[in-house]
Amino acid sequence: MRGEICVGFASFLAFTSLMLLIFVHIGQITTSTVPRGIWMVEVNMSTYGASLQSAIFNPVVGLYTSNASAPLQAGLGLRQFYKFGLYSYCGYISEKEGTCGNHTVGEQFTPFDAVISDMLPQNYSILTANLIPGNATLRDSKYLGQSTKAAYWMLLLGTLCAALALLTGIAKNNLTFFVSTIFAIAGSLLLLIGASIWTVLIKKSESVNHLLIPGTQIPSGISVSVGPGLFLTWAAFIALVVSIIPYMISCCTYRG
Ligand SMILES: *[C@@H]1O[C@H](CO)[C@@H](O)[C@H](O)[C@H]1NC(C)=O
Ligand SMILES: *[C@@H]1O[C@H](CO)[C@@H](O)[C@H](O)[C@H]1NC(C)=O
Ligand SMILES: *[C@@H]1O[C@H](CO)[C@@H](O)[C@H](O)[C@H]1NC(C)=O
Repeated sequence: MRGEICVGFASFLAFTSLMLLIFVHIGQITTSTVPRGIWMVEVNMSTYGASLQSAIFNPVVGLYTSNASAPLQAGLGLRQFYKFGLYSYCGYISEKEGTCGNHTVGEQFTPFDAVISDMLPQNYSILTANLIPGNATLRDSKYLGQSTKAAYWMLLLGTLCAALALLTGIAKNNLTFFVSTIFAIAGSLLLLIGASIWTVLIKKSESVNHLLIPGTQIPSGISVSVGPGLFLTWAAFIALVVSIIPYMISCCTYRG
């Protein structure tokens, strides 16, 4: 009976981890309620227009769009904020109104490309390229893009391992508990790597929040912040790590 409880606890943890990861995966796939509420990182551009205006001493007109359904990356106007998920990103003109880009396996977090490609008048995108220092991490699309793609594969494989740990743990014998333990360990490592990469990238990108436009005391007006998707990923990692212990105990002590 004690063995049953141990296995049940391990399965519950692996199941929790898997569920959390599924929520992470659906983040920003569409703008409906649940996916809209989950994102890895947010780039808030809502005060950028005001900063730009102060920096160039000229009124900035037509920088933002008020059309929630205007397609992204088409030079149709900047959105107030952008949220990035694992498969796509969405641009919002208000809390609930926005549009999402195409879905890609392993969407790359390239915020600078995303905002530049939405700016309509050519001179705003050129100005923006001059206003944000070239060494800001936010501009380093190659570094951010490649790292997020790598992190995506880690998270996908980690999700798969959590699912396999759960499935193999159902057949009750020492060998399958051993296999579950291995999957739980492998999955935990993969999730640790994926979540760490995202955490570092977001921390580095957040430096733009304190950035001043070169030669001025004007803040960039761009603000990067971490989203609930990253917290869910860390929670999934913790659940899977903790499941290793009961899986291991079951594997060594189960007498089915
Ligand atoms: C974006 O930034 C503005 C100004 O700081 C703030 O009022 C607004 O709530 C932010 N929006 C989101 C979705 O974080
Ligand atoms: C908003 O954008 C959509 C998609 O491009 C377009 O069909 C629609 O006419 C636009 N609405 C307005 C009010 O411009
Ligand atoms: C989405 O895909 C279509 C067709 O491949 C392409 O024309 C469009 O530019 C893409 N949009 C974005 C935002 O990537």
